[in-house]
Amino acid sequence: MACSDSDYAYLRELVLSQSANLIDPSRNALFETRLTPIARIAGAASLEGLVNILRVDRPAHLHRAVAEAMTINETSFFRDVKPFEALRLTILPKLIEQNQSIRKLRIWSAASSTGQEAYSVAILLSEYFPELARWDVKIIGTDISRNVVDYANRARYRRMEVNRGLRARFLMKYFERDGEEWDVCEKVRKLCDFRVANLCAPLPPLPEFDLVMLRNVLLYFPQQDRTCVFSDVYRQMQSQGYLVLGNAEQAEDSTNLFEAQFANECYFYRPVKG
Ligand SMILES: C[S@@+](CC[C@H](N)C(=O)[O-])C[C@H]1O[C@@H](n2cnc3c(N)ncnc32)[C@H](O)[C@@H]1O
Repeated sequence: MACSDSDYAYLRELVLSQSANLIDPSRNALFETRLTPIARIAGAASLEGLVNILRVDRPAHLHRAVAEAMTINETSFFRDVKPFEALRLTILPKLIEQNQSIRKLRIWSAASSTGQEAYSVAILLSEYFPELARWDVKIIGTDISRNVVDYANRARYRRMEVNRGLRARFLMKYFERDGEEWDVCEKVRKLCDFRVANLCAPLPPLPEFDLVMLRNVLLYFPQQDRTCVFSDVYRQMQSQGYLVLGNAEQAEDSTNLFEAQFANECYFYRPVKG
Protein backbone atom coordinates (compact mmCIF):
# COMPACT_ATOMS: atom_id res chain seq x y z
CA MET A 1 0.00 0.00 0.00
CA ALA A 2 1.30 3.48 -0.85
CA CYS A 3 2.19 5.95 1.87
CA SER A 4 -0.29 8.66 2.81
CA ASP A 5 0.55 12.35 2.51
CA SER A 6 0.88 12.48 6.28
CA ASP A 7 3.41 9.58 6.23
CA TYR A 8 5.50 11.45 3.64
CA ALA A 9 5.24 14.64 5.68
CA TYR A 10 6.41 12.68 8.73
CA LEU A 11 9.41 11.29 6.78
CA ARG A 12 10.36 14.76 5.51
CA GLU A 13 10.16 16.13 9.05
CA LEU A 14 12.24 13.24 10.38
CA VAL A 15 15.01 13.81 7.81
CA LEU A 16 14.95 17.54 8.49
CA SER A 17 15.31 17.07 12.25
CA GLN A 18 18.08 14.46 11.91
CA SER A 19 20.23 16.02 9.19
CA ALA A 20 18.77 19.44 8.24
CA ASN A 21 18.19 18.18 4.69
CA LEU A 22 15.07 19.65 3.10
CA ILE A 23 13.27 17.22 0.82
CA ASP A 24 10.80 18.69 -1.61
CA PRO A 25 7.39 16.93 -1.76
CA SER A 26 7.96 16.47 -5.51
CA ARG A 27 10.63 13.93 -4.56
CA ASN A 28 8.40 11.67 -2.46
CA ALA A 29 9.11 8.74 -4.78
CA LEU A 30 12.72 8.82 -3.57
CA PHE A 31 11.58 7.64 -0.12
CA GLU A 32 10.26 4.46 -1.71
CA THR A 33 13.55 3.65 -3.52
CA ARG A 34 15.90 4.61 -0.72
CA LEU A 35 13.95 3.32 2.28
CA THR A 36 12.73 -0.06 1.00
CA PRO A 37 15.99 -1.82 2.07
CA ILE A 38 15.66 -0.25 5.55
CA ALA A 39 12.04 -1.37 5.78
CA ARG A 40 13.17 -4.92 5.01
CA ILE A 41 15.88 -4.83 7.70
CA ALA A 42 13.37 -3.43 10.21
CA GLY A 43 10.99 -6.31 9.41
CA ALA A 44 8.35 -4.09 7.80
CA ALA A 45 6.49 -5.32 4.72
CA SER A 46 6.17 -1.84 3.19
CA LEU A 47 7.24 1.79 3.52
CA GLU A 48 3.99 2.41 5.37
CA GLY A 49 4.95 -0.33 7.85
CA LEU A 50 8.37 1.29 8.33
CA VAL A 51 6.75 4.67 9.03
CA ASN A 52 4.60 2.96 11.64
CA ILE A 53 7.68 1.54 13.40
CA LEU A 54 9.44 4.92 13.19
CA ARG A 55 6.42 6.73 14.65
CA VAL A 56 5.52 4.26 17.40
CA ASP A 57 8.79 2.65 18.58
CA ARG A 58 10.96 5.67 17.70
CA PRO A 59 14.18 3.60 17.41
CA ALA A 60 17.07 6.11 17.27
CA HIS A 61 19.21 3.90 15.00
CA LEU A 62 16.40 3.64 12.42
CA HIS A 63 15.77 7.39 12.54
CA ARG A 64 19.46 7.93 11.76
CA ALA A 65 19.42 5.26 9.05
CA VAL A 66 16.50 6.99 7.32
CA ALA A 67 18.29 10.36 7.33
CA GLU A 68 21.50 8.78 6.02
CA ALA A 69 19.67 6.89 3.29
CA MET A 70 18.10 10.11 2.04
CA THR A 71 21.39 12.00 1.61
CA ILE A 72 22.55 13.05 -1.84
CA ASN A 73 26.11 11.78 -2.24
CA GLU A 74 26.87 13.12 -5.71
CA THR A 75 30.57 14.02 -6.01
CA SER A 76 33.55 13.66 -8.32
CA PHE A 77 37.29 14.22 -8.45
CA PHE A 78 38.28 17.90 -8.91
CA ARG A 79 34.58 18.80 -9.01
CA ASP A 80 33.94 22.19 -10.67
CA VAL A 81 37.69 22.64 -11.48
CA LYS A 82 37.88 26.37 -10.57
CA PRO A 83 38.01 25.97 -6.78
CA PHE A 84 40.98 23.66 -7.26
CA GLU A 85 42.67 26.28 -9.42
CA ALA A 86 42.06 28.82 -6.64
CA LEU A 87 43.58 26.37 -4.16
CA ARG A 88 46.64 25.82 -6.35
CA LEU A 89 47.27 29.42 -7.36
CA THR A 90 46.11 31.49 -4.38
CA ILE A 91 44.98 29.70 -1.24
CA LEU A 92 47.63 27.01 -0.74
CA PRO A 93 50.62 29.31 -1.52
CA LYS A 94 49.24 31.76 1.06
CA LEU A 95 48.69 29.05 3.69
CA ILE A 96 52.18 27.66 3.10
CA GLU A 97 53.64 31.13 3.58
CA GLN A 98 51.56 31.69 6.76
CA ASN A 99 52.42 28.32 8.31
CA GLN A 100 56.09 28.20 7.26
CA SER A 101 57.34 28.40 10.86
CA ILE A 102 55.14 25.55 12.20
CA ARG A 103 55.12 23.43 9.01
CA LYS A 104 51.65 22.13 9.73
CA LEU A 105 48.46 22.15 7.67
CA ARG A 106 44.99 20.93 8.63
CA ILE A 107 42.32 20.67 5.93
CA TRP A 108 38.66 19.67 6.40
CA SER A 109 36.48 18.24 3.69
CA ALA A 110 33.19 18.74 5.56
CA ALA A 111 30.47 16.60 3.93
CA SER A 112 33.12 14.57 2.11
CA SER A 113 30.78 11.95 0.63
CA THR A 114 32.80 9.10 -0.93
CA GLY A 115 36.10 10.96 -0.57
CA GLN A 116 36.86 12.31 -4.06
CA GLU A 117 37.12 15.92 -2.82
CA ALA A 118 39.65 15.09 -0.07
CA TYR A 119 41.74 12.89 -2.36
CA SER A 120 41.70 15.62 -5.04
CA VAL A 121 43.17 18.07 -2.51
CA ALA A 122 45.76 15.46 -1.48
CA ILE A 123 46.73 14.92 -5.15
CA LEU A 124 47.01 18.69 -5.62
CA LEU A 125 49.33 18.97 -2.61
CA SER A 126 51.51 16.07 -3.77
CA GLU A 127 51.71 17.30 -7.35
CA TYR A 128 52.28 21.04 -6.92
CA PHE A 129 53.66 21.47 -3.41
CA PRO A 130 56.31 18.74 -2.99
CA GLU A 131 57.88 20.67 -0.07
CA LEU A 132 54.83 19.66 1.99
CA ALA A 133 56.19 16.10 2.12
CA ARG A 134 58.29 17.40 5.05
CA TRP A 135 55.29 19.06 6.76
CA ASP A 136 52.69 17.66 9.15
CA VAL A 137 49.68 17.60 6.79
CA LYS A 138 46.29 16.01 7.43
CA ILE A 139 43.08 16.16 5.40
CA ILE A 140 40.07 15.09 7.44
CA GLY A 141 36.86 14.19 5.65
CA THR A 142 33.58 13.99 7.57
CA ASP A 143 30.10 12.98 6.54
CA ILE A 144 26.84 12.06 8.23
CA SER A 145 26.64 8.78 6.32
CA ARG A 146 28.63 5.82 7.68
CA ASN A 147 28.39 4.12 4.25
CA VAL A 148 30.17 6.90 2.37
CA VAL A 149 32.75 7.34 5.15
CA ASP A 150 33.63 3.62 4.93
CA TYR A 151 33.78 3.89 1.15
CA ALA A 152 36.15 6.87 1.36
CA ASN A 153 38.42 5.13 3.86
CA ARG A 154 38.62 2.11 1.53
CA ALA A 155 40.19 4.45 -1.05
CA ARG A 156 39.15 2.21 -3.94
CA TYR A 157 37.22 3.59 -6.91
CA ARG A 158 35.39 2.09 -9.85
CA ARG A 159 36.31 2.89 -13.44
CA MET A 160 33.23 5.12 -13.80
CA GLU A 161 34.36 7.18 -10.79
CA VAL A 162 37.97 7.69 -11.86
CA ASN A 163 36.74 8.64 -15.32
CA ARG A 164 34.93 11.65 -13.83
CA GLY A 165 37.19 14.67 -13.34
CA LEU A 166 40.54 12.94 -13.01
CA ARG A 167 43.21 13.65 -15.61
CA ALA A 168 44.73 10.50 -17.12
CA ARG A 169 48.15 11.63 -15.89
CA PHE A 170 46.91 11.83 -12.27
CA LEU A 171 45.18 8.48 -12.56
CA MET A 172 48.40 6.81 -13.72
CA LYS A 173 50.53 8.60 -11.14
CA TYR A 174 48.37 8.46 -7.98
CA PHE A 175 46.34 5.25 -8.38
CA GLU A 176 47.12 1.57 -8.72
CA ARG A 177 44.90 -0.54 -10.89
CA ASP A 178 43.38 -3.74 -9.57
CA GLY A 179 41.18 -5.30 -12.28
CA GLU A 180 38.23 -2.97 -12.86
CA GLU A 181 39.01 -0.86 -9.79
CA TRP A 182 41.65 1.66 -8.82
CA ASP A 183 43.29 2.08 -5.40
CA VAL A 184 44.50 5.49 -4.26
CA CYS A 185 48.28 5.23 -3.82
CA GLU A 186 49.68 5.03 -0.30
CA LYS A 187 51.32 8.47 -0.42
CA VAL A 188 47.97 10.21 -1.11
CA ARG A 189 45.86 7.88 0.97
CA LYS A 190 47.88 8.43 4.14
CA LEU A 191 47.21 12.18 4.00
CA CYS A 192 43.45 11.55 4.35
CA ASP A 193 41.28 10.24 7.14
CA PHE A 194 37.47 10.00 7.11
CA ARG A 195 35.07 10.07 10.08
CA VAL A 196 31.34 10.22 10.71
CA ALA A 197 30.10 13.66 11.82
CA ASN A 198 26.73 15.37 11.57
CA LEU A 199 27.12 19.07 10.77
CA CYS A 200 23.87 19.75 12.64
CA ALA A 201 24.87 18.05 15.88
CA PRO A 202 27.75 18.73 18.27
CA LEU A 203 30.91 17.99 16.31
CA PRO A 204 33.35 15.29 17.45
CA PRO A 205 36.82 16.46 18.53
CA LEU A 206 38.51 17.98 15.48
CA PRO A 207 41.63 20.11 15.07
CA GLU A 208 41.60 23.79 14.10
CA PHE A 209 41.59 23.94 10.32
CA ASP A 210 43.53 26.15 7.94
CA LEU A 211 41.25 25.28 5.05
CA VAL A 212 37.64 24.09 5.05
CA MET A 213 35.93 22.73 1.94
CA LEU A 214 32.20 22.91 2.70
CA ARG A 215 30.75 22.29 -0.73
CA ASN A 216 27.38 21.23 -2.05
CA VAL A 217 25.75 20.44 1.25
CA LEU A 218 24.39 23.71 2.69
CA LEU A 219 22.19 24.22 -0.36
CA TYR A 220 19.96 21.44 1.01
CA PHE A 221 19.68 23.10 4.45
CA PRO A 222 17.15 25.68 5.70
CA GLN A 223 18.57 29.14 6.40
CA GLN A 224 18.70 28.79 10.20
CA ASP A 225 20.70 25.54 10.01
CA ARG A 226 23.13 27.16 7.57
CA THR A 227 23.70 29.93 10.09
CA CYS A 228 24.44 27.37 12.84
CA VAL A 229 26.82 25.41 10.61
CA PHE A 230 28.70 28.59 9.66
CA SER A 231 29.24 29.47 13.34
CA ASP A 232 30.45 25.94 14.14
CA VAL A 233 32.80 26.03 11.14
CA TYR A 234 34.05 29.48 12.16
CA ARG A 235 34.88 28.15 15.65
CA GLN A 236 36.71 25.22 14.09
CA MET A 237 38.96 27.43 11.91
CA GLN A 238 42.26 29.21 12.31
CA SER A 239 41.73 32.97 12.21
CA GLN A 240 43.88 33.18 9.04
CA GLY A 241 42.06 30.28 7.41
CA TYR A 242 40.11 29.85 4.18
CA LEU A 243 36.60 28.53 3.54
CA VAL A 244 35.52 27.24 0.14
CA LEU A 245 31.81 26.74 -0.61
CA GLY A 246 30.05 25.12 -3.56
CA ASN A 247 29.30 27.04 -6.76
CA ALA A 248 25.65 27.52 -5.86
CA GLU A 249 26.35 28.48 -2.25
CA GLN A 250 27.24 31.70 -0.49
CA ALA A 251 27.79 32.72 3.12
CA GLU A 252 26.55 36.34 3.03
CA ASP A 253 22.84 35.46 3.38
CA SER A 254 23.37 33.39 6.51
CA THR A 255 26.27 34.85 8.48
CA ASN A 256 28.53 37.85 8.94
CA LEU A 257 31.36 35.72 10.34
CA PHE A 258 33.06 35.42 6.95
CA GLU A 259 34.03 37.88 4.25
CA ALA A 260 34.11 36.99 0.58
CA GLN A 261 37.22 37.25 -1.59
CA PHE A 262 37.60 36.54 -5.28
CA ALA A 263 40.56 35.13 -7.19
CA ASN A 264 41.11 32.74 -10.10
CA GLU A 265 37.45 33.10 -11.12
CA CYS A 266 36.34 31.73 -7.77
CA TYR A 267 34.80 33.10 -4.57
CA PHE A 268 36.11 31.90 -1.24
CA TYR A 269 35.81 33.19 2.33
CA ARG A 270 38.04 34.31 5.20
CA PRO A 271 36.92 34.49 8.84
CA VAL A 272 36.18 37.98 10.05
CA LYS A 273 38.37 38.46 13.11
CA GLY A 274 36.39 38.85 16.32
C1 LIG B 1 26.34 16.35 -2.65
S1 LIG B 1 27.48 15.64 -1.52
C2 LIG B 1 28.85 16.78 -1.66
C3 LIG B 1 30.17 16.06 -1.58
C4 LIG B 1 31.38 16.98 -1.80
N1 LIG B 1 31.48 17.97 -0.76
C5 LIG B 1 31.32 17.64 -3.15
O1 LIG B 1 31.08 18.84 -3.23
O2 LIG B 1 31.48 16.95 -4.16
C6 LIG B 1 26.74 16.12 0.02
C7 LIG B 1 27.19 15.27 1.21
O3 LIG B 1 26.74 15.90 2.40
C8 LIG B 1 26.41 14.90 3.34
N2 LIG B 1 25.51 15.47 4.35
C9 LIG B 1 24.21 15.81 4.22
N3 LIG B 1 23.72 16.28 5.37
C10 LIG B 1 24.75 16.26 6.26
C11 LIG B 1 24.88 16.63 7.62
N4 LIG B 1 23.84 17.11 8.32
N5 LIG B 1 26.09 16.47 8.21
C12 LIG B 1 27.14 15.97 7.53
N6 LIG B 1 27.08 15.61 6.24
C13 LIG B 1 25.90 15.75 5.61
C14 LIG B 1 25.78 13.81 2.50
O4 LIG B 1 25.82 12.56 3.14
C15 LIG B 1 26.60 13.87 1.21
O5 LIG B 1 27.61 12.89 1.21
